[in-house]
Amino acid sequence: MAVTLVIGTQWGDEGKGKVVDYFSKDADYVVRFQGGNNAGHTIKVRDEIYKLHVIPSGVIQGKTGVIGNGVVIDPEILINEINELTKRGIKPKLLISDRANIIMPYHKILDGAEEQYLDEKKIGTTKRGIGPCYSDKVSRKGIRAIDLTDKKTLSKLLDRIVPIKQKIIDIYGIDEKVDKREILEAYSNYGKQLKNYITTTHIKLNKSIQKGKNILFEGAQGTMLDVDFGTYPYTTSSHVIAGGSSIGAGIGPKYINEIIGIVKAYTTRVGEGPLPTELSDKIGEYLQQKGHEFGTTTSRPRRCGWLDLVVVRHACMISGITKLAITKLDVLDSLKQVRICTHYQLNGKKIDYFPANIEDVKQCKPIYKEFKGWDEIDKNSSKFSDLPKEAQEYLNFIEKELQVPIAVVSIGPGRRETIEI
Ligand code: GDP
Ligand code: IMO
Ligand code: MG
Repeated sequence: MAVTLVIGTQWGDEGKGKVVDYFSKDADYVVRFQGGNNAGHTIKVRDEIYKLHVIPSGVIQGKTGVIGNGVVIDPEILINEINELTKRGIKPKLLISDRANIIMPYHKILDGAEEQYLDEKKIGTTKRGIGPCYSDKVSRKGIRAIDLTDKKTLSKLLDRIVPIKQKIIDIYGIDEKVDKREILEAYSNYGKQLKNYITTTHIKLNKSIQKGKNILFEGAQGTMLDVDFGTYPYTTSSHVIAGGSSIGAGIGPKYINEIIGIVKAYTTRVGEGPLPTELSDKIGEYLQQKGHEFGTTTSRPRRCGWLDLVVVRHACMISGITKLAITKLDVLDSLKQVRICTHYQLNGKKIDYFPANIEDVKQCKPIYKEFKGWDEIDKNSSKFSDLPKEAQEYLNFIEKELQVPIAVVSIGPGRRETIEI
């Protein structure tokens, strides 16, 4: 395995949690490198379902989870997640980067205030404070994990930051007082609880690579939510793509051996922003119901559409994806016809790339290839040839179009419902 990356190729919720759990059996460390508790990763092991937001999915297999410097951490949520897992008999082995930025109460207030102010022009964020936290990191007003472990440092940082935040909150007309003392007490208390986990994760990971350990990176969100290459401004605020792993964990790009792109067999999106293959008809509803497409983090219904290879092609190129894992193929069962978008029609031209201008994206009309559907995938299928012939044709087409081999096909949420090719 060496160093393997698992990333989403669409708008998130591709089934990264399931695939990461599956590959964790061979990993020594499972590393989150970006995002925060905007993510919601589901793992199903027999009748047990785990929904993780900050802790890497590999802890379910008993592996050490690493929360890298590129992650933004809401300490209250993280502590709750540790406690919940411990109650369920999984005491997570965890390492937290001393350099990871902390989501503060004012970040959550401002996330909500901005969205409310934008009204129908809003992004549809998860309101977890992600954007404001990353903004503060870049504008050098962040609080980092290490700062929680030293009350004096934390106090000084808050003295500098809190008055600015109060000013902005007042401008929005929000009736909230940012109480420095209250924050100092609560957050230094979180620091005490997390102290033993906080460490120089970048050093540990680099030493492990030298020793030949297996490291699995767990991406959050998906390529089209990447702050540079997604449907900007309808994106998250972090580097979701493969390159983000190097920045977000402090390891050189030369150490990455394999980049697995997770592709849901159709497309979903939560929140606002264009979705070229969106289906506002009975089939869209069918996919939503059959795929249980409701947000793991916010419970919002996910918008659904046909598989869009313009999107996945974009993801493969930007991240240098070496293998594909196709998930939720079973959700397409029982449809008479299934479609795959290969190109867009934009201003009378056929294009095969994803435009930067959001107004252009809204004008893109998908060009589809139609396939015959299949009845039902046998949940006990263990090899490619066990799949219905029509499903095989669907997969073969994806592989041929993208010129990237399919390594895994997922045919159900459970760990066992996985076909390795
Ligand atoms: P993530 O954010 O990429 O980890 O994905 P989520 O966990 O938010 O959403 C994926 C959902 O699909 C979860 O409820 C999974 O249990 C479920 N799931 C994953 N793979 C499959 C699959 O192959 N078939 C079906 N039916 N469900 C799946
Ligand atoms: P996982 O890891 C799906 C979306 C939000 C919103 C936009 C910005 O489970 O795939 P943010 O709170 O990040 O500022 O919201 O990004 N979003 C996700 N959509 N899956 C996710 O994570 C997401 N994380 C953020 O819905 O449109
Ligand atoms: Mg999710």
